[in-house]
Amino acid sequence: MHKSLFIGLIGALVLFAWCDGGMASAKEEREIVRKDGILLVAFGTTVPQGAKAYDGVEAKVRAAFPEAQIQWALTSKTVRTKLIQRGTQAESPESALARMMESGVTHLAVLSLHVSAGQEYHDLVRTVHGFHGMADGFQRIEISRPLLASYEDLERVAKGMLAHAPKKRGGAEGVLLMGHGNSDHPADTVYAAMAYVLRSLEARAFIATVEGRPNLDDALRDVRAQGVKKLYLMPLMTIAGVHARDDMAGDEPDSWKSRLDKKGIASEPVLAGIAEYPEVVEVWLEHLKAAHGRL
Ligand code: CO
Repeated sequence: MHKSLFIGLIGALVLFAWCDGGMASAKEEREIVRKDGILLVAFGTTVPQGAKAYDGVEAKVRAAFPEAQIQWALTSKTVRTKLIQRGTQAESPESALARMMESGVTHLAVLSLHVSAGQEYHDLVRTVHGFHGMADGFQRIEISRPLLASYEDLERVAKGMLAHAPKKRGGAEGVLLMGHGNSDHPADTVYAAMAYVLRSLEARAFIATVEGRPNLDDALRDVRAQGVKKLYLMPLMTIAGVHARDDMAGDEPDSWKSRLDKKGIASEPVLAGIAEYPEVVEVWLEHLKAAHGRL
């Protein structure tokens, strides 16, 4: 009898001590000071001019969030491997998120520098969700919308890009944007929406994609209908990488330039990524501010 009472008493004391300890650590957690972080995520590039465009975006983010810890992550494993072989630092979103979590960031906003809500954007959303509710992890984590997330975004990006096309375009000259596209993903339809927006702004502004619809042949029907003889080619891609340099402006027989040549349409590439256009970076920045505001 006495023995069991004694054991019961010890048990109650241990339980009390444990509860007390639990409450103390909860109190400690409440006292943790907020530390903001921003993770910039892009596909990545091995082209130096593209990397410079990323630097420009980073400078604007730093100016808007001077207190935040800012880090980069690249979603393309191929690009990361090539950069690491060259001795350039390159990290995956998973690794960068873990490192920021470990360094004590409590409130994290992720800026997706992807153009549409395609496969890579969805992969990133999944990764970010994986970091929700980890022990000693981020208290809050939010991801921004991709660039083209509303009709207004499409209009602003279209206007921003057309502002960087050669100013004096003659009656038989037009602009053709090159989107990436992916015919297997529902987000591909944003490019058809962009074709509509472009047309509402300018009769001779068109879009086609490399891997989705509208493709070059689709766009050429409209180009012909407008009697266009020359097109300025502009990549609707974050940076002017391999697609812009080779698939759009390259000399290979299947490049857009060569295919247009064969159809009697002259072309001139404007080799800059949209991350080089302030009007477009402004849209990304607003999406980041919205995500940060939700923290
Ligand atoms: Co591609």
